[in-house]
Amino acid sequence: MYSTAFLDIPPLAGAAGAVTLPGSKSISNRVLLLSALCSGTTEIHDLLDSDDTRVMLAALRQLGCGVQVQGTSVSVTGLGGQLTKSEPIEFFMGNAGTAMRPLTAALAMLGGDFILKGVARMHERPIGDLVDALRELGCRIDYLGNEGFPPLHIGQPDLKLDAPIPVRGDVSSQFLTALLMALPLASQERSITIEVVGELISKPYIEITLNLLQRYGIQVERQGWQRFVIPAGSRYQSPGTIHVEADASSASYFIALGAIAQGAGIRVQGVGADSIQGDIRFVDAAQLMGAKVTSGPNWLNIERGSWPLKGIELDCNHIPDAAMTLAVMALYADGPTTLRNIASWRVKETDRIAAMAIESRKLGARVEEGPDWITIHPLPAGQWKAASIHTYDDHRVAMCFSLAAFNPDEISVRIEDPKCVAKTFPDYFEALFGLATVQPGAIPVICIDGPTASGKGTLASRVAERLGYHYLDSGALYRVTAYAALQAGLSLEPQHEGAIAKLATTLPVRFAGEQVLLSGVDVTDAIRSEEGGMNASKVSTLAAVRTALVALQHSFARLPGLLADGRDMGTVIFAQAPLKVFLTASAAQRAERRYKQLISKGFSAKLDSLRADLEARDARDMSRNVAPLKPAQDALQLDNSHLSIEQSVDQVLNWWQSKAQTAPFALHAHRRPGTPT
Ligand code: C5P
Repeated sequence: MYSTAFLDIPPLAGAAGAVTLPGSKSISNRVLLLSALCSGTTEIHDLLDSDDTRVMLAALRQLGCGVQVQGTSVSVTGLGGQLTKSEPIEFFMGNAGTAMRPLTAALAMLGGDFILKGVARMHERPIGDLVDALRELGCRIDYLGNEGFPPLHIGQPDLKLDAPIPVRGDVSSQFLTALLMALPLASQERSITIEVVGELISKPYIEITLNLLQRYGIQVERQGWQRFVIPAGSRYQSPGTIHVEADASSASYFIALGAIAQGAGIRVQGVGADSIQGDIRFVDAAQLMGAKVTSGPNWLNIERGSWPLKGIELDCNHIPDAAMTLAVMALYADGPTTLRNIASWRVKETDRIAAMAIESRKLGARVEEGPDWITIHPLPAGQWKAASIHTYDDHRVAMCFSLAAFNPDEISVRIEDPKCVAKTFPDYFEALFGLATVQPGAIPVICIDGPTASGKGTLASRVAERLGYHYLDSGALYRVTAYAALQAGLSLEPQHEGAIAKLATTLPVRFAGEQVLLSGVDVTDAIRSEEGGMNASKVSTLAAVRTALVALQHSFARLPGLLADGRDMGTVIFAQAPLKVFLTASAAQRAERRYKQLISKGFSAKLDSLRADLEARDARDMSRNVAPLKPAQDALQLDNSHLSIEQSVDQVLNWWQSKAQTAPFALHAHRRPGTPT
């Protein structure tokens, strides 16, 4: 997850590959409970791992269900409608509403001696309407705290199921879902009728419940949205194996990605066109705009079809959340797109009609809006503007506008507060970057070169953190190479140049945070010593070794960008980088910093010899024939002798920022300012 203040997405050229989306929360907990109530074992795949599902799994274990978890697959051996245990059980439900409601109904029907409680907030969430409905049919439920709220005690029921059971539909559709899932426990001999009192809200969620019940052998008869009948003789039957669908609204961004981006197509794993979630109808809308979509059970394949996309006019009442994605696709269309019947956008996480209009206009688009509609005009090449997209703490605004990075003008797009995607998809940007491709050289790279102990590493890694960029400590590669060479019995002299270079080509090095691993072994302390630095300096004079490490260093340039520190980042390895900093500090200052660093780590050190050592190392680095240490011609010099780390970080970020403002094209190296388009 990116928890930076903003995330700059460089211009994206294409996308291809497969993405597996996180499972839907509502489906996960329904499937767990139904698997527990039926007989036999159900293999559940792609279960969402979240607080709510963990609570449910714990409760099922307490009830005596066989539960085996393996990654995102879980096998549940059900109770067959009968409890095997008779002792009292106390369940802790945390704050998991999707576990509390349906479990209350199921336990009340099964009967026993149960206590259900949760965190303080759970005890403030009303459950009275469900309890009333359950009491109506003879369940024994007592409030242990405040009337109408958990904690609850559940006893043995005396079921009366002949009259229709009333349940309120206008508070939470979860009450109706809870009853629908529990009542088949008692429908062997008689049919059971539920009557909804008041207007039923969130109908798509009831559709999900009905659909899952059907997969577990229960065919509920529905008369409008007012009466639901569970026919006599209904019995839960395990489907054997079931896949939890991925969240269909999350899929919309990747469907749009496939429709917009050039490439071999996007495969979305985890949700298919036969999905039981309402938002899957986004597929039809995307097809209207030109996407080529094929699908099978649990997968979708999306390719670019018509290009540009086609402007459409659509009533979006049935796909309110996913329809926001259409608004961004509209920027790439051949004519205006009007989305109608979207009044609900105004009362979501933010006023989404206003948000989509304001932010699209920042990109240069013409947008008209009304109380319940929005029209977005296409944004032709040459008219896109660099914009910082405000995201209003709304995950969908952030995900939608990431797709603007495919603009034909190759302008990067800034997404503010990128962590807001965590609400439904914490790793959204990682997933996007895993599929997206860029023009060669288009990944932004900031180079920080300079002499030993100038503070490059600290500065580079802090700037990387602030920008959400990757970080390359190239010095560590030379240190590891020297270390590996010595381990292999080689000397660091020119006569072993070939052998060391060979070793460097396939160096099994990996960075894990601050740790450096060689073949999985932590060599951090071994290579970070002064001796390690000297050894690195020796191997770094060998031309073949430097060449051998080039590809490895280039491979660090990945989306969304890279901070690279070393001696020749700006002069040789990333010579096209848009920002190069040459960091210096007086020898006295550097020796002193290194001294403090070593002492604080418990090493013994002498200031004088440290200074002599680093001056010797600098001399070698500056005088060597290949890639000598020197500022690149276009490097900006930063003397940090009298600056704090934060001041240096701010200086580099300011330089970067002013480049972004004055010459957004310059941030990616393959096009320089003034280059014809
Ligand atoms: O930056 P650090 O002190 O870890 O680098 C160790 C040595 O590796 C340097 O003194 C230099 O000789 C070599 N080096 C290099 N080119 C780089 C990075 C480090 O030659 N890009």
